[in-house]
Amino acid sequence: METSPERDRAVDLGLESTRARYDRTPYRDEVFADLEVGRLLGLARLLGLGPESQERLRVLDLGCASARHIRDQAARYPQIQFTGLDFSASELAIARREVEDAGLGNVELIEADFLEAEVEPGAYDLVLCHGTFSWVPDEVKNRIFELCSGALKPTGLAAIVYLTYPGWKQKEALRELLNMRVAQIKEPEQQVRESALLLRLLKASYSSRPDDPHATSLLALTEAMQASARNVFIHDELGRDHDPCYFLQFAEWADECGLQYISETDLGSMTAVALPEEAGPVLGELSPSFLETQQIIDFVVNRSGRSSLLAPKDTLHLRQLSEQALAVLEFRLPLAPGTEIQSEADDLLRFNSIHGYSVEVRGEPQGRLIRHLAECARPLSRAAIDTFMQSVGASDLHLDTLLLGLLRGSVIDPYFPLAIAED
Ligand SMILES: C[S@@+](CC[C@H](N)C(=O)[O-])C[C@H]1O[C@@H](n2cnc3c(N)ncnc32)[C@H](O)[C@@H]1O
Repeated sequence: METSPERDRAVDLGLESTRARYDRTPYRDEVFADLEVGRLLGLARLLGLGPESQERLRVLDLGCASARHIRDQAARYPQIQFTGLDFSASELAIARREVEDAGLGNVELIEADFLEAEVEPGAYDLVLCHGTFSWVPDEVKNRIFELCSGALKPTGLAAIVYLTYPGWKQKEALRELLNMRVAQIKEPEQQVRESALLLRLLKASYSSRPDDPHATSLLALTEAMQASARNVFIHDELGRDHDPCYFLQFAEWADECGLQYISETDLGSMTAVALPEEAGPVLGELSPSFLETQQIIDFVVNRSGRSSLLAPKDTLHLRQLSEQALAVLEFRLPLAPGTEIQSEADDLLRFNSIHGYSVEVRGEPQGRLIRHLAECARPLSRAAIDTFMQSVGASDLHLDTLLLGLLRGSVIDPYFPLAIAED
């Protein structure tokens, strides 16, 4: 076999076996609601960044696998150019076939290892990296950050979805047990069978101790692992690299690679909503920095994953939502598909959000707006919302303050105004 310094390094890091694993067992085929491109571009504008117009928008997906997410988005937004990058030839073969079958002229696919890949500098409005960062060695993580910072336009954003501590601490112990069991087994199918047996044993043991809180929480984790799809299980639970990190480590590392932490793709997960009122004064006394506050919130909610937005470090960012952006954006209710708004009392509404939790809305004008947005198939502009509020006699409220409050809590989502193909 030919050798080269790159190949030797790839073997050292185990990249060849990881690539072979993905070639043999393709990963899942999913569209990610939190990485909807119109929404991310809207979020960018709301954060004072993002594009000025619909012209020449470009999105890069690092670790695109069969490119399901960008295929979906490319069909929806034909005016945007999408690039998917991955080192698995068989994943990309699926992607190419599907792109061709769907007649998508705005998707480019690049087969390359992150360590050797070159991307056009300063060319992308968004760089997506879903479910890959925590599953690669540190040298590759570093390169992912470098690719993001090199590829982004000055006002562009990278969205990286990764695993975090402390939420992963307990799950990790379970994963380590499985990996100890299958360490000497080569065949992934045999590894899955052995793991399934072990999980059955654990489930039976934990189920027999319903009064033990420790057993109850481990039972939930065991059941979640059992419910995992076979191909996802092979990579996520039995793959070689699996490396959650603390949020502060992530933000500091990104900083070293020329990126600044901006926010989560789900703004509502960043506020002190998770903290009870009594915690307010203590938080004031601790007076943590913006980044430390985020880290504390992760401990409060035992967070196991984040979907973080990063921008080039030298871009000026004021850490506040832009009121001026409201006039250009459109707004949509993040109602989870197939769910409805529940009304507990006249002034209390509840709905399941695409962000994965239940949202509560109190108050009459907000409630009317929420119901109206739920009925609208398309996102509404600020002007359309203003007209609606006037039509229901709620014109005396300060609409921008109301909208910013709802956006901050992820009760509504911002969208960049783009022509949508399917409509
Ligand atoms: C866990 S999958 C995630 C796929 C998709 N983004 C998702 O979330 O469903 C990780 C992907 O990253 C790719 N990958 C892993 N290491 C890579 C590397 N060093 N260079 C390029 N691609 C890599 C794999 O081939 C695989 O398709």
